[in-house]
Amino acid sequence: VLRRVETEKSTDITVHDAEGRVVIPGLVDAHTHLVFAGTRALEYEQKIRGASYLDILAKGGGILNSVERTRKATHSELLDSARKRARTMVAAGSTTIEVKSGYGLSLEAEVKMLEVVSQLNSALPVEFVPTLMSAHAVPSEYEGNSEKYVEYMLEHIIPEIARRRLAEFSDVFCEKGVFSVEQSRRILLESAKWGMRPKIHADEIVPLGGAELAAQVGAVSADHLVAPSDEGIVQLADSETVAVLLPATSLFLGLAKRAPAREMIRRGVAVALATDFNPGTSPVMSMQLVMSLACSYLRMTPQEALTAATINSAYAVGRGERAGALEKTRQADIVIMDAEDFREVPYFMGSNLACAVIKKGVIVARDGNALF
Ligand code: NIG
Ligand code: FE
Repeated sequence: VLRRVETEKSTDITVHDAEGRVVIPGLVDAHTHLVFAGTRALEYEQKIRGASYLDILAKGGGILNSVERTRKATHSELLDSARKRARTMVAAGSTTIEVKSGYGLSLEAEVKMLEVVSQLNSALPVEFVPTLMSAHAVPSEYEGNSEKYVEYMLEHIIPEIARRRLAEFSDVFCEKGVFSVEQSRRILLESAKWGMRPKIHADEIVPLGGAELAAQVGAVSADHLVAPSDEGIVQLADSETVAVLLPATSLFLGLAKRAPAREMIRRGVAVALATDFNPGTSPVMSMQLVMSLACSYLRMTPQEALTAATINSAYAVGRGERAGALEKTRQADIVIMDAEDFREVPYFMGSNLACAVIKKGVIVARDGNALF
């Protein structure tokens, strides 16, 4: 699709002619759980038949089902499956992808997951941002004793991951029946002491006070926010924390309740978007689809969705100074869309309009296919 244009003066610059198509910044997927083994297609059917997400988790399924399989998987199995999914994501326009651990829940298995993220970073021509999420669930060997698992994380997992420099951020699933607000606070403050900046899965299902906690601990982002309190929204607006909304998750779970995007924007919260790609609640890899859902389902305008999927999500993963916008001072992360108007990107819901994806000046995907 792209025609190479010969330039007269310079020999070391390649000029591409986008032939009047829409050119946008590379999309930044600010929240994924890319590395895991197996799928949860069976639980998908159980949920359709009426089981709830938290019920399945309480019975040892859900996240713990993926933990069991991820613990058994080898490095190379995890790397191969993650690489395959990353190709689909990049072909749909993502050039920076945050990735959380959290299907290991032991020091050894969390290290394994984050080493896979580090290998993805060296092997693939796009950027992966690593986040420690050993606080994703209470593993079965600590069942009924979340305090003891929190102690284990504070004493062993957090210091060792920090020592090995395997994660930039630390995330907690602050939710009823998972980690309480007080446990989440301890985990995040301890992580921050070790140099890992806080992120929170906040107020996804029950309004626990996750948004407030995010503002109080100076979290880089508060994610989900389907059920934040009014006070939580006000506190986020007054903070530096970015709200990362994940509309594919609400839609995939078939939930009527969705994040109050309009209210957050009205109050001045910085809103970003992400796929939340994971085996349980969002097997969605396309940021273009997420932008469509943000518009049709959360009532964000196409302008707001584009901002949320680029510059705001870049800030949500600590890349706001060098990614997320088309500027001379930033890296050349660019997507050329087969569209005449940028509104067509969310409008063609479910299509992939990306005809060229460029990372740091190099074409990494063309016409729906990754070149790696
Ligand atoms: O962001 N809510 C917790 N974590 C994921 C789900 C992970 C899973 O179900 O495997 C989420 O939705
Ligand atoms: Fe998540």
